[in-house]
Amino acid sequence: MELYYNYFDEVDSTNTRLKEAVKKGALEGTVYSAGRQTDGRGRSGHVWESPEDESISTSLLLYPDELSAEETALLTPLAALAVCDAIEDLYGMPTQIKWVNDVLVNEKKVSGILTEQLLTEDGRRAVIVGIGINVFQKDFPTEIEAIATSIALEAEKIGALAGERLKTKLKKEERRKEQEELIKGLWKSFIRYYEILMGKRTLGFIRGKYNAKLINRGKRCMVMDPNGTYQCEALGIDGMGRLCIRMDDGEEKAIDSGEVSVRGIYGYV
Ligand code: BTN
Repeated sequence: MELYYNYFDEVDSTNTRLKEAVKKGALEGTVYSAGRQTDGRGRSGHVWESPEDESISTSLLLYPDELSAEETALLTPLAALAVCDAIEDLYGMPTQIKWVNDVLVNEKKVSGILTEQLLTEDGRRAVIVGIGINVFQKDFPTEIEAIATSIALEAEKIGALAGERLKTKLKKEERRKEQEELIKGLWKSFIRYYEILMGKRTLGFIRGKYNAKLINRGKRCMVMDPNGTYQCEALGIDGMGRLCIRMDDGEEKAIDSGEVSVRGIYGYV
């Protein structure tokens, strides 16, 4: 698939802009990225902070005709893996995933993904995969500082390759270049996975890789279900991206990220 990159200094939200573009017939493969978002949106109605030139805000438009509405949920774990690939390739920095789509470094969140869908006027399903990555931030608002981090902050701790790139490249245009490389790397990796997914319509082909990165795996977790909160052991995802868990009575089941969320029993992980 060909990608068409567009860059804006400032937008409300790259996802919102791309939704507007769908109404005007934007092509599959259109990517909107921004230096700053004034109304960046996260999952469950949360605000996503995108301070000027500090982070990456990028969204890709797809028309996945082969997938059902439920199957489009598979795109989010793919995006999480693509973010991991790009961070590891560019910075040699190990990454983890917190189910279903938070990307972590050293157990803190560096990236979040918001996938949204809408129908075009002629009834075609359009999907927008929006990714935010904290790149240069040195501090975070108090409410999230315990769970959030940036590539630059972790690079300082890890040193080596990652630290060198980010410490020496701090001018505005150099930051932009760094961000551009990360954006291109992540969408390239995403498209590779996406084209395989279109044929298979299950996550079987990346399940092993995803589960190896899954921070919840083998750990006790807290499941926040609308009907009540309970503890369990997380086992890994299945081909539909659901988290397989073992309950305390030994029963195993798969839970869906559209219905529940999961955290560690003592906090975020
Ligand atoms: C989350 O973890 O809650 C998801 C955060 C998603 C943020 C990205 S930044 C690019 C795109 N535009 C938005 O308004 N949100 C997504």
